[in-house]
Amino acid sequence: MTDKTPTEILEKEHRIIEKVVGAMAAIAETLEQEGHVEIDTLRDMAAFMVTYADQSHHGKEEIHLFPALERKGVPSRGCPVGALLQEHKAGRALVATLTEAVNQFAGGDESKRDTVISSLRGLVALYPAHIWKEDYLLFPMANKVLSPDDQAELRERFEAIEVSVGRDTHDRFEQLAERLVAALRSRS
Ligand SMILES: [Fe+2]
Ligand SMILES: [Fe+2]
Repeated sequence: MTDKTPTEILEKEHRIIEKVVGAMAAIAETLEQEGHVEIDTLRDMAAFMVTYADQSHHGKEEIHLFPALERKGVPSRGCPVGALLQEHKAGRALVATLTEAVNQFAGGDESKRDTVISSLRGLVALYPAHIWKEDYLLFPMANKVLSPDDQAELRERFEAIEVSVGRDTHDRFEQLAERLVAALRSRS
């Protein structure tokens, strides 16, 4: 088991998500300028957002971290937890739109190009500020209110989520983020 604290685990995942979101901005730009990109890259990005960012990362936050904070008296509505949950919801809707549009675009429906671009850009607009709020507001507060026992329990719960997603799958998506960054570097 990792010796990282729960917020260190989530911060590390934020750095991975940022890589993919950065790649999304570049892909949206290329798609707009050149009209096409590798469909597999779009599929990989959508799959990353569904499985790694939402199922695994948001799962750790929504199913375990936020309720643990609420048990310590942090309000579940309003700022910060309620606002972060709303952003997860908005992100989920954008990812659903992206996934559907990518499938239709891949199937030859050129009219979906704009939807692919706008949903990628919607995610690019949403995530950096969301991650900032968690890294600089939520996590420092969480580290103050959660006892060592609470943190140990959260770590176990996080492990269970990774097992349910599949360790291989989790690692594969982290490698995918590195590959996307490397592919962009080689283009520029
Ligand atoms: Fe979040
Ligand atoms: Fe997060």
